[in-house]
Amino acid sequence: MDPDADEAGRQRGVRSHLSRHVPQRGRGEGQVTAQGSHNAGNEIPLFWRVSALFLEETFGLGGKVAVVTGGYGLIGSALSRGLAAAGAAVAVLGRHKEASDALAADIVASGGKSVGTVADVLDSKALDAACDAVVKRFGRIDILVNCAGGGATPAARLRPDQPLFNAELREATRTVIDLNLMGTVLPTFAFGDVLAGGGGGVIVNIASAAARYVSPGVMGYSAAKAGVEQFTRWMAVETARRYEGRVRVNAIEPGYIVGGKNRPRYQNDDGSLTPLGEAVIAHIPAGRFGTPEDLVPPLLMLCSPRGGYVTGGVVPVNGGFALAPGV
Ligand SMILES: NC(=O)c1ccc[n+]([C@@H]2O[C@H](COP(=O)([O-])OP(=O)(O)OC[C@H]3O[C@@H](n4cnc5c(N)ncnc54)[C@H](OP(=O)(O)O)[C@@H]3O)[C@@H](O)[C@H]2O)c1
Repeated sequence: MDPDADEAGRQRGVRSHLSRHVPQRGRGEGQVTAQGSHNAGNEIPLFWRVSALFLEETFGLGGKVAVVTGGYGLIGSALSRGLAAAGAAVAVLGRHKEASDALAADIVASGGKSVGTVADVLDSKALDAACDAVVKRFGRIDILVNCAGGGATPAARLRPDQPLFNAELREATRTVIDLNLMGTVLPTFAFGDVLAGGGGGVIVNIASAAARYVSPGVMGYSAAKAGVEQFTRWMAVETARRYEGRVRVNAIEPGYIVGGKNRPRYQNDDGSLTPLGEAVIAHIPAGRFGTPEDLVPPLLMLCSPRGGYVTGGVVPVNGGFALAPGV
């Protein structure tokens, strides 16, 4: 990769992105003014231009290429759209072609760059092929968001009426740990070389509050997400040393993110809370569930080249969940 070409691409991305979001003056129209000075017609105050440029320079991802595993799920689709809105080309990765192609097409229709990419995060061969396909399409990979995961199967959740040490839970625990932990480790290995080789890159793993707090019934999921957080720290140290800080690894630790298929667990059709929803809200000082979009600004901060000194971190995005467990 040619680093100068990268920088030129990034600057072009910044300019073209800026031109999409800040109205441009036509020829012969009034002057750009400082904030507070007279601003006739459609002049854009200098302060706005400077601050828009500052935000682009700080958080813009023009010229960058991101892969989002689980990229069309509840959270993944918000992250894919957020990265694309910040200027990155986004490979939306999941097991189902129709779903990944559909989201990619939607992002493209909104003016972004995206491609659907099919792979199972537990299949290294398929991940290697996906990596090749993304490089072929966009030429590089700068960002990997490991978002694929979840509760795996209902059997991985221990019901109060079940014996603790039961065979079904034993097997389902293996499945849920594989999906959430190995499903983060294997894509990191598949995309890591290309990401590190392009002059630097960022990996963001999606962990969970379940890594830190005991959530009844979800032992395997909790253990896997705790593993994801420790994997994040381990990989952060190793990449920082080997690539002189040019590769960074962080995690986001969402609390209760509600929407789509999981909404009925917490909210009734009329918007009132289910008994589980009430129990959860009682432990969220912010008084509301999270939305997938709540995760986008922290993701952009972690992915920004200007966030270059942040590595090995786990960023909770949870409205203060469980910070005040007592009265
Ligand atoms: N929602 C929450 O409250 C919450 C809270 C904390 C953490 N999280 C974490 O956030 C992440 C996303 O969760 P979500 O709520 O958005 O769930 P979701 O809507 O079920 O999304 C999960 C995504 O992962 C993909 N996926 C599952 N197994 C896969 C596999 N083997 N290979 C490739 N892709 C696979 C799914 O697509 P396919 O099945 O079509 O492949 C889907 O796109 C998960 O890691 C979850 O643990 C969620």
